[in-house]
Amino acid sequence: MPVDLSPIDKAKYAAARRSVDLVENRMRVGLGTGSTAAWMVRALAERVKDAGLSITCVPTSERTGDLARDLGLQVVTLDEAKWLDLTIDGTDEFDPNLNLIKGGGGAHLREKVVATASDRMVVIADPGKQVAQLGAFPLPVEVLAFGLTATRALIEEMLASIDVLSRQVSLRMNGDTPFVTDEGNHVLDLHLGRIGNPRQLALVLNQVPGVVENGLFIDICDQVIVGHPDGRVEIHDIDGGATPGDRVEFDEPENIFADLGD
Ligand code: A5P
Repeated sequence: MPVDLSPIDKAKYAAARRSVDLVENRMRVGLGTGSTAAWMVRALAERVKDAGLSITCVPTSERTGDLARDLGLQVVTLDEAKWLDLTIDGTDEFDPNLNLIKGGGGAHLREKVVATASDRMVVIADPGKQVAQLGAFPLPVEVLAFGLTATRALIEEMLASIDVLSRQVSLRMNGDTPFVTDEGNHVLDLHLGRIGNPRQLALVLNQVPGVVENGLFIDICDQVIVGHPDGRVEIHDIDGGATPGDRVEFDEPENIFADLGD
């Protein structure tokens, strides 16, 4: 039951639960990846059932697709949906301009494709994701396996002229082998400490041959819903300011909280 959840999971659930109120009948909805997005998928499945909604969903990863199908949501590809009304996703960091670092789960390539093919992107977050300036969270960069060493060297060379606090680059591992994304690529994590100009860095990174996509989401997110452990939520809108939303009550059916796999 929710009362047994950690404070951070209660905060994630509050944001997730509030976000699915934005989903209306016949919408095509992008489903994000990560632990907060997994709460959202569960809350969405409950809402679809309770309100009798007919929606189609496009997941941003294989694991989110598996979860959505298991919960009875109708899953299609982005090509089948063509365009989306709304994408709801988590984040690793968001700044006052609602620019994001994403990809802690290695799904930022599909997440960015799906979010930018949506009329609206809403991010759900716990309070720890809010930062004054992006960069404390290592910036994920998806790269081709082909020529990985050369790509890494080019990124390190490029970083020398970029306004960041530190410039350490690491290859993301999964045990003893490099982590592999859903698209069959690898991920370099850029430990930058502070990113002076995220817009510039996002553009420059994608100019490096071998880089597939970076985890900076610039001018993509429209709204961030921050949840708190006591059920309060606040809405950060791209048009300015944070406003309090209705408190989420932790009285949901037990099945939402079972077997959370992400
Ligand atoms: C997945 O690659 C990421 O972009 C996630 O959306 C992000 O890491 C947030 O994950 P959590 O909700 O698990 O913190």
